[in-house]
Formats: sequence, C-alpha cells, structure tokens
Amino acid sequence: MTTQFKIIRGGTVVTADQEFRADVLIHGETIAAVGHDLEVPAGAEELDASGCYVIPGGIDPHTHMELPFMGTVASEDFFTGTSAGAAGGTTSIIDFVIPSPQQSLLEAFDNWRGWAEKSACDYAFHVAVTWWSDQVSEEMGELVRDHGVNSFKHFMAYKNAIMVDDEVLIASFTRVKELGALCTVHAENGELVFQLQKRVFEQGITGPEGHALSRPPEVEGEAANRAIRIAEVLGVPLYIVHNSCRQSLEAITRARSEGQRVYGEVLAQHLVIDESVYRDTDWEQAAHHVMSPPFRDVSHQEALWRGIQGGNLHTTATDHCCFCTPQKSAGKDDFRLIPNGTPGIEDRMSVLWDQGVRTGRLTPVEFVKITSSNTAQIFNMYPQKGCVKVGADADLVIWDPESTRTISAKTHHQNVDFNVYEGMEVTGNAMVTLSRGTVVWKDGELRTTKGAGKYIPRKPFAPYINASNARSSLLAAKGVDRS
Ligand code: URP
Ligand code: ZN
Ligand code: ZN
Repeated sequence: MTTQFKIIRGGTVVTADQEFRADVLIHGETIAAVGHDLEVPAGAEELDASGCYVIPGGIDPHTHMELPFMGTVASEDFFTGTSAGAAGGTTSIIDFVIPSPQQSLLEAFDNWRGWAEKSACDYAFHVAVTWWSDQVSEEMGELVRDHGVNSFKHFMAYKNAIMVDDEVLIASFTRVKELGALCTVHAENGELVFQLQKRVFEQGITGPEGHALSRPPEVEGEAANRAIRIAEVLGVPLYIVHNSCRQSLEAITRARSEGQRVYGEVLAQHLVIDESVYRDTDWEQAAHHVMSPPFRDVSHQEALWRGIQGGNLHTTATDHCCFCTPQKSAGKDDFRLIPNGTPGIEDRMSVLWDQGVRTGRLTPVEFVKITSSNTAQIFNMYPQKGCVKVGADADLVIWDPESTRTISAKTHHQNVDFNVYEGMEVTGNAMVTLSRGTVVWKDGELRTTKGAGKYIPRKPFAPYINASNARSSLLAAKGVDRS
C-alpha cells in the first residue's frame, strides 16, 4: 500500500526567491509542510536528499506531443513524452492545440484533450489561432471561460499551412486582450521564408543547409518586432516563443526598456547547439537538426545567455517535437519537406544546470525561475505549480548537482532515434522526481503510470502579467468607472 505521507529529508530547498535547508513533508498530492523538525506521521516514506537540492518540478511551456505536422505525426506521444520529461526533472508541460485552418477550435481542443489522457504527468494547452471568423472569436471565449485556456498561439511562419497574416494577428490579439488571455507568437516572416526557400532550392541547394540559409536571423527579428509593435498599439502583453537570435532578443529588450510587457522564451537547444550541424556531411545527422527557427552561428548563444541574465528572456523550453530518421527522410531531395522539430524534454534541466549554473551564468535560484516558476507565473499556474510551498502540488525534484551522465539516444527515454545532445557530458541530474506526490523517477528507473497526469486549467487575467486588470479592479473598488 502506498503511504499517504512522504518526507524528503536533508536537502536544500531552492525556490524562485530563496535557498534554505529544510525538509519537505508531502501528504497525498500536495506539500504539507516545509521546515525543520517537522512532525512526521509514523510510516511516512523517507526520501534522502542529503547533498542535493529540492526544487519545483520543471515546467516545459512548449512541447508538441504526437503533433500531426508536415505530412506526418510526431513520434513522441503524451505518455512517452511526459515520462521522458520526468526522467529529466520536468513534471508539467504546456502543449499546443493546433487546429487546421477552417477547423473548429473546440473540436481540435477535444482531440488534443483525448490524446493527452495518457499523460504520465500534468499538462495544459495553448490553442493556436490559424484562421479567423466570428466562430473562432466565439470559441476563443468558450475556451477561456469553460476550458481553462489562457494563452493563444499565432504562427507567423509556415505559409500555406498554419501561418496567419497581420489581419488575423490584429483581430486575434484584440480578442485575446478582451478575454484577459496571453498572445503568443512563433516569430518568423513566413513570406520571406517561403521566397528564400524557393531561391535557395533553385540555386541547387537541396540539403538541410538550405533550411538555415532560408531562415536567417533577420527573418525572425522582423517578425518579433512586428508582433511587438502590433501588441504595443493594441496594448496587450505578448510572449514570443523559441527566440533563437540576437535580432529578436534586441526587439524584446528595446520594448521592455520602453515599459512594454513582452516575455521571451528560449530553447535549451539554441543555447548550446550552433548552425555547423547543418554542414554535417552525414545527411541524416544534419536533417535531425532541422527545426524552426534554425540553429544560429555561435555568437547568438552568448547573446541569449545574456538575455536570460538580464531578465529579457524569462522561460526555457524545448519545443519537443520528435520525428524519427525515416520521417526526416521525407525531405531527402528537398529540405523544405523535412519535418521541422527536435527533441529535448528529457535533457533541458541538465543542460541548463551544466551550462548555466556550473559555468556561473546562473544561480540555483535563477535556474528555478527559468525552468519552472516564471512559466507558472506567466501562464497563471502559480502557486499550484512552480514553487515549494504548503498547499502546492508536490511536483518536486531531488536534484544532485554533482551527478554526471553522458547524453545518448541509446539510453534516453524519448521515443525518437537520435538525440541532438548526443555525447554531451552533463553534470546535474534529477535523482528523484515526484509528480503530485508520486515518485515517477528514482534510481535511474521510470515509474510513471499511463493516465496519471491531470489537465491543469488556467484562469485568464494572470496577475503577473495583467497590470491593467489590477488597476481597473482597484479603480472599480473605489467606484471609478473607466469603461
Ligand atoms: O521546428 C519546429 N519548431 N517544429 C514545431 C513547430 C513549431 O514551429 O513550433
Ligand atoms: Zn514554432
Ligand atoms: Zn513549437
């Protein structure tokens, strides 16, 4: 019989604002006490954290489990993907519902909810707006009101598929503002990409190197800046996913320095992998790295780290989107047909600890913020997720800062036949992972259960990002009508 109580002893708790020695008592699915000399019920299961940190479970705000995309379906499903996350210390994901143009948002949402029922850990959804009509507008309202969605995604790239133009961006951002949700964008100028792809292909470049050549950083910088300016005019907060380059970071930094509420996400992959991967003479190796935005020249990496350190990039994600080698081979003769996406959910936390904390770029507190707490706050999951507080979900990781492993597809738990970090030695690993009080990873073994994960509904008007809402409620409380 599983005991209702667990006690994590002897660790150093790290949160978004503190680091302190404490034990953590868990009752069922939640944290019951944090401190010293706790009253521990007899029979409580003991977990030893000596020499380790105890941190909130990682939250990956950008994944694509079993995504139908570019003529195929991502190989990682919600069970295998959330399990692989657990092995690396990630206990929640925010995945994307991506309706086809003309498809009902609610119908697509139901599909994704069904697929996600097999999740081993908790999950939430952003919903993409891929077309516009009165029906879309109404369904956005229903998703916010009745289904716990508080963020909408807009693809400024992938022309002739899911890309939206400025007209749709403006209509949707306006609606998102009314609903108190958060606008998010994939920022690349899709028209430019389309034309550059054609030009590059017609020059005879058909291999994966053509992917990077047709998506230069300027293409990303332009779209980031355009989305930012549209959000500025409409007075709505904006979150830009997978920033890969100096150009988009500069747009965010400028906007924030002018007081605009813009949030930036960066992928662990873009912080450590550079564009030389596309020049690999082994086609498969190069194709494995085809994702959008592509990997950049190495100079962008230090800029992105500075973006995190300077508080202009707030979250780290993976864009975990797995296509196995035979799937990538669809683009053997034409890079435009290689399904875009790379894996990463299992290794995000270790890569960031190894390259962030161990290099001195980040403190453990900053690590917790960018791997968990900031995401929970921006997407309004805090303090249920992203913290170590009484009453919060017991999504916890016993993190050994000294444990070392070598990343490899031979040993990883992701359902994909390669790993973009292959051969990289990382120090800093999840020793034990708990998802809502249940041990899901321990002693190098997965103990996840299909279907144990729960949907995380999220309310609109997140206090962390909605100053205008706070101001209007204060004014309303004073009897001032600003409408
Ligand atoms: O290459 C990528 N990133 N594939 C997934 C879809 C997206 O753009 O996020
Ligand atoms: Zn994207
Ligand atoms: Zn994505």
